[in-house]
Amino acid sequence: MDIISVRDINKKTLNEIFELANEMEKQLNNRKVEKLDGVVATLFFEPSTRTKLSFQSATVRLGLRYIDFISELSSVKKGESFADTVRMIDGYCDIIVMRHKYEGAARYAAEIAEASIINGGDGGNQHPTQTMLDLYTILKEMGGIKGLNVRMIGDLKHARTMHSLIYALAMFGANISITAPHGLEMSDEEIEEIEKKFNTKISIENEPDFSNDDVLYVTRIQQERFADPLEAKRVMEKFRITKEALKDAKKDMIILHPLPRVKEIDTEIDKTRHAKYFEQARNGIPVRMGLIKYLLEGEHA
Ligand code: NCD
Repeated sequence: MDIISVRDINKKTLNEIFELANEMEKQLNNRKVEKLDGVVATLFFEPSTRTKLSFQSATVRLGLRYIDFISELSSVKKGESFADTVRMIDGYCDIIVMRHKYEGAARYAAEIAEASIINGGDGGNQHPTQTMLDLYTILKEMGGIKGLNVRMIGDLKHARTMHSLIYALAMFGANISITAPHGLEMSDEEIEEIEKKFNTKISIENEPDFSNDDVLYVTRIQQERFADPLEAKRVMEKFRITKEALKDAKKDMIILHPLPRVKEIDTEIDKTRHAKYFEQARNGIPVRMGLIKYLLEGEHA
């Protein structure tokens, strides 16, 4: 089984992965992790801190080994194609976690490889395992997802995390509001498709009022996907989250962010009860352990 897009995964599978993640968290807390056998390859053609390292850490904690591919030091530099690179690495491992700037790269790799492909981000398209840890964090912090008021704010056009998350939130029955700077909105087609599929209404708000939000999910302006860097700079400061901006927010509202943060959340927020983004990143370990276990041992293995 491959993990390419949240659109391929149903609620039952996601819940099974969350149960495994929960079990992993218990095992980690008791310092008694059941060991597995196998090799995971990390194949990243775009920068990464959390996704790559948390997959490597999850792998090691499960007693598996990982091999790492560094594009600058590989035969890609000698002109080897993406397809041949994937074909080779496929012979060395059981799971390939990959990130690439081209949308569809992970799906293409899945056609070539026998190993399970996990999409760690393909351009501005999808980032399904980030969504898994986002939902897991919401479940842990809020006790459920259905009926929660979730606001997604930031670069809704280029951020792959947002395209994955909005679909999954709708699947789990959240009330979704979206806020984006002008020019960085999610497309009408995507919104309408999700509304139709899950019989829901996504509220588009250009002047956000945070007072009803249970979860505020913030993302960075994805400047690397802009044709004009000056344009990115212009919108960077538009919806900066400060203490002042949150003065009417619910006391128990949580703020999530896939990270890296640039300037969109003021560091003064870090010390408030709202800030859950570092815990969220830490949840990447049990969630990715649960996912690896699911892929190696689940009924799809
Ligand atoms: C995100 C990504 O790469 O899409 N990072 C991550 O995996 N946590 C978010 C981002 O780069 O803004």
